[in-house]
Amino acid sequence: MTNILLVTSSPRGAEGLSTRFATEIAEGLKARLGGALVTRDLSAKPPPHITQAYINGRGVDPEARTVAQAEAVSLAQALVDEVKAADVIVLGSGMINFGPSSQLKAWFDHITWPGVTFSYGEASGPKGMLIGKKVYLVAATGGVYSEGAWAAFDFQAGFLRHLLGFIGLTDVEVVRVEGTSFGPEAAKGAIAATEAQVRAVLDKAA
Ligand SMILES: Cc1cc2nc3c(=O)[nH]c(=O)nc-3n(C[C@H](O)[C@H](O)[C@H](O)COP(=O)(O)O)c2cc1C
Repeated sequence: MTNILLVTSSPRGAEGLSTRFATEIAEGLKARLGGALVTRDLSAKPPPHITQAYINGRGVDPEARTVAQAEAVSLAQALVDEVKAADVIVLGSGMINFGPSSQLKAWFDHITWPGVTFSYGEASGPKGMLIGKKVYLVAATGGVYSEGAWAAFDFQAGFLRHLLGFIGLTDVEVVRVEGTSFGPEAAKGAIAATEAQVRAVLDKAA
């Protein structure tokens, strides 16, 4: 049985291309592998920006937390528990001003938790604690970043790969939806290219 976690984060909700293709991958994997599919829709229910209550609350024993600290930490705990329970994580991200949406950044700010999702090794530096999971990252962008002059400005896929790897999620397959801002014909071609990538991902997983 495979537990799949689908995390969507496009501010455009269900109309987002990252939402559409991440959902297709998650549902396709469930159909092929069986198991449970849990969805965390960060667009419908964005995590708040992290606060002092959250930062301080993480560092104290649960019984010593203030009400505000307990509330802030319990959301982070729920988000971490979802990731821990998953064997496969499908992450949808649409580029907003060269990076991921602030909804998705806030999710990472909650789940990147010292002593819980990563540890500081003595000499070896930080070590990710969420190991043995597969991640599919659907990265949607108006421009083209997989190659060419704009590749240096892809602060979405590279940044997300780094954040995922930092907490131990190193097995990441990126599916791109790119070049959709260059007119209807280009958008049609871009979407067809992503549809082919999604088919290949699902064929490989079956
Ligand atoms: C507010 C906003 C900012 C955007 N910034 C960028 C950007 O910096 N670079 C880019 O290539 N596309 C940018 N786009 C285009 C989106 O990345 C593109 O529409 C992508 O499909 C969004 O993902 P989604 O379809 O999942 O919402 C932007 C779109 C919006 C609405």
